[in-house]
Amino acid sequence: MRIFVAGGAGYIGSCCTEYLLEHGHQVTVYDALLNGHRQAVDPRADFILGDLADLSSLEDAIKRSRPDGVIHFAAFIEVGESMLDPLKYFRNNVSNAINLCQAAVSAGVRKLVFSSTAAVYGMPKVIPITETAETVPINPYGEAKLMFEKVLGWQHQLSGLQYTALRYFNAAGASEKFGEDHHPETHLIPLVLQAAEGRRKKISIYGDDYDTPDGTCIRDYVHVLDLAQAHLLALESDFCGSLNLGSGTGYSVKQVIDTVRTVTGKDFPVETAPRRPGDPPRLIADASAARRILGWQPQYDDLSAIIASAWRWRQQHPQGYQD
Ligand code: UFG
Repeated sequence: MRIFVAGGAGYIGSCCTEYLLEHGHQVTVYDALLNGHRQAVDPRADFILGDLADLSSLEDAIKRSRPDGVIHFAAFIEVGESMLDPLKYFRNNVSNAINLCQAAVSAGVRKLVFSSTAAVYGMPKVIPITETAETVPINPYGEAKLMFEKVLGWQHQLSGLQYTALRYFNAAGASEKFGEDHHPETHLIPLVLQAAEGRRKKISIYGDDYDTPDGTCIRDYVHVLDLAQAHLLALESDFCGSLNLGSGTGYSVKQVIDTVRTVTGKDFPVETAPRRPGDPPRLIADASAARRILGWQPQYDDLSAIIASAWRWRQQHPQGYQD
């Protein structure tokens, strides 16, 4: 297949591009490099520097690359920032995403795969979470992702565009070549690895009085290459709708910290800090639909292996990407 990857210079987009190339597909990466890195674009892919806000550049790029499928990773990802600047999130993660959808439809693209999120569920009442759970986002980030899922749903009904929205739980880990390098970094695993490297003085646990066995929040960490596998399967499938992607196993913040200590052999100070507003105590996926419908078979169900891959990448890229 020829695949057009919007946001292929970001964390998940770069790993997915590599995976697609490894599986014999041709990839065009379209990325404005606002948060992505030029060095994260696999050299085997064609690269077009462009913004989703620029509809004519986007239409031109899609027409020229004549893709069989489009994958959309090009979104802003910080929940906290979305509470401070909601319009930034609605503008890029909805309006600009509509540009991508429009350009794909007018170029006759058959299928669009969209990076959605567990944040569409808000504070779920039942764990593990299935796709039929109520979607009640509690921040503009989650709301914008849900809005674009609905755009795709209508577009499918009315124009026949095929789509799959993949609701990621906590993406983590790295491939041999590409990894996580966000500025600022807000995610737990890279922050704890920075503490293990001595680049960060200490790690703060945001709340240890939750109703969980050790009092800290539980998340479902899923390896970025398992996410990549699901994107390829979604492109190949006729399924239209939303699917959860998670390992189905939950780990607490304290368990993540202990696992980093074991994997890296390093110790570092840890303090308890106040809760971070809007954190659900427990998010664990029921991803049986993705396994059944797509034939998804995640390879990494063990937190140590996920963290070890991220640690390897960080040791090879101590400064992250240099651009
Ligand atoms: N945490 C800490 N200390 C830190 C950083 C995080 O204790 O320094 C805790 C958080 O409070 C949370 C857990 O670690 O309980 C995981 O936090 P992350 O920021 O790594 O991830 P989130 O679960 O908040 O967010 C992730 C994705 C979002 C997505 C969300 C779905 O990053 O994009 O899952 O709910 F929206």
